Amino acid sequence: MAHWTQDFADYLAQHHQERPGITEEVLGRSLAGHHTPYTWLARAVSGRALTVLDIGCGSGAMSRYLARPGRVIIGLDLSGSELHAAAQRGPGPWVRADARQLPFADESVDAVVSSLGLAVIHPLEAWLGEVRRVLKPGGLLAALTPTVAPMSPADTRVAMHLFRTLRMAPVFPVGIELASGPVLAESGLRKIEDNRERYRFVVRSHADADLLLSALYLPGIADRRLDRATSWLARGVSREGEVRIPIPMRRIVAMKPTE
Ligand SMILES: C[S@@+](CC[C@H](N)C(=O)[O-])C[C@H]1O[C@@H](n2cnc3c(N)ncnc32)[C@H](O)[C@@H]1O
Repeated sequence: MAHWTQDFADYLAQHHQERPGITEEVLGRSLAGHHTPYTWLARAVSGRALTVLDIGCGSGAMSRYLARPGRVIIGLDLSGSELHAAAQRGPGPWVRADARQLPFADESVDAVVSSLGLAVIHPLEAWLGEVRRVLKPGGLLAALTPTVAPMSPADTRVAMHLFRTLRMAPVFPVGIELASGPVLAESGLRKIEDNRERYRFVVRSHADADLLLSALYLPGIADRRLDRATSWLARGVSREGEVRIPIPMRRIVAMKPTE
């Protein structure tokens, strides 16, 4: 397990070094009605939160969704390439550091957000303990994490077909059906919300298919499987005009107790 985790950490570092901004390109176009997962995450943060830390910020999407006068949004990530992309898009501050050792003082931030950090940053207890340390009492952690529901029967058919064509599902080191209450409680955080929403990324072209597939964590996948998946998506586009890929998400919100 430890070996696999280190392998995955290396894979993750390379994935983000080669494709900075790729997560934002896909999630920024994944919609439920008119909103993206980032809009939903930003809504969990109180207007009174003036110092917000975005953990695993990638290319800094959340800093744009959270921007408001008087608020500082600190983006933190391990990947230099992602932070370089973030710095070209927004003012920061951008901090290159490990979420498991946050370079901030105790009780120094009003809110923490993390889009996909719960599924990716391992081990959870290490960085959730750090989140608890840097949050002010009463401060919130709001996180998005991929999940398996809700999905309509049509969504399930599309997802299953895609994974069969790839011969694997995207890999997340922490697992995607997190028992959030106990995990948060172990780190001294109290869960106050755990909701689900289904987004869809619509593939209308070969370029869309390539974008989607290159955003997924598919360690070790053979090129021929990626080609088969691209061809399958392309056939769907020529038959129906588009293929709607379901992206179910969970929004988990927790509070640092005041005592
Ligand atoms: C799936 S991406 C999400 C990026 C961004 N939050 C978004 O949704 O657009 C996960 C990010 O977590 C970062 N990451 C992984 N492990 C980390 C760690 N230990 N500390 C800080 N960032 C980490 C990766 O470099 C990557 O940018």
